[in-house]
Amino acid sequence: MTQISDARPVAVTGATGAQGGATARALLRAGRPVRALTRDPSSPAAAELAALGAETVRADFTDPATLRAALDGAGALFAMSTPFGSDLEGEVRQGTALLDAARESGTVEHIVLTSASNADRPTGIPHFETKRRLERHLKGLGVPWTVLGPGAFLENYANGWTRQSLRRGVFHLPMPPGVPIPVIAARTIGDFAAHVLAHPARYAGRRIDLAAQWVTGEQIAAAIAVGSGREIAFEEVPLTVVEGYSEDLAAMFRYFQATGLEVDAEALRAEHPEIHWLTLEEWAAREDWRL
Ligand SMILES: NC(=O)c1ccc[n+]([C@@H]2O[C@H](COP(=O)([O-])OP(=O)(O)OC[C@H]3O[C@@H](n4cnc5c(N)ncnc54)[C@H](OP(=O)(O)O)[C@@H]3O)[C@@H](O)[C@H]2O)c1
Repeated sequence: MTQISDARPVAVTGATGAQGGATARALLRAGRPVRALTRDPSSPAAAELAALGAETVRADFTDPATLRAALDGAGALFAMSTPFGSDLEGEVRQGTALLDAARESGTVEHIVLTSASNADRPTGIPHFETKRRLERHLKGLGVPWTVLGPGAFLENYANGWTRQSLRRGVFHLPMPPGVPIPVIAARTIGDFAAHVLAHPARYAGRRIDLAAQWVTGEQIAAAIAVGSGREIAFEEVPLTVVEGYSEDLAAMFRYFQATGLEVDAEALRAEHPEIHWLTLEEWAAREDWRL
């Protein structure tokens, strides 16, 4: 396989969001030209990327012509998809349009698709099954590919929903006490994706599930307590409560509890010592916990 010319930009989707934003920043730190794709280049998040040196271009997953224009001349693609803001079929349709546009560009020589841990298996979790379909499409595309399968984002534990209960001194998670889940910071996903994009020959044709460590709800509560200086107790949210607002998320936590994910965080850290695997404790210490 030919080495990607470093002079060609890496097109980064979701660049105004968590994973794409971290990937764009890691690429820029490494001196790679970045083309950040966004529906709104005038947004504050896009302006921040432009100030860091990224080229920002308008592209909408629902409009294939904008994708083709945005990928014109790009050397590689960081691809993300999302069921949030559209729907499950929308995620597949939009992701397929993005991947097809990358192939049609004729210049994209490596696609790094971010999916979810174990989403290549028949999990029955709706927003994992959509990613499974996209992974299959990617593998049949004829363009060298790498799939990253992140575990739960640490950033989930600082979002608005979590903060509501943190204000009452409670950390809620739909997992039983003592049962761990694999976690990773968006920043680490970005660092890993940039590393993969810098070494296409080493990573082409590989699917890698990503987690820095496995942690329990109690450990997350304890790390947030240290980071925020407040007393925080862990409380399990019953699956019946999750079912009340999202059958998709309920299916995911049911799977986490009944089957469990398989991600070998220890082996990953050993194979990739060049990556800073941000831990729960480091992440919680850096977070702004003013609630
Ligand atoms: N949270 C977790 O624990 C977790 C774990 C594993 C996998 N995941 C998966 O991660 C994905 C979400 O990633 P994230 O958290 O990095 O995203 P995010 O922060 O929610 O950002 C979403 C990004 O998608 C872009 N976007 C949305 N609709 C678009 C469209 N029609 N055209 C072009 N761009 C569009 C947005 O860009 P603009 O608004 O600038 O256009 C934004 O940058 C989901 O698929 C989720 O299932 C999440």
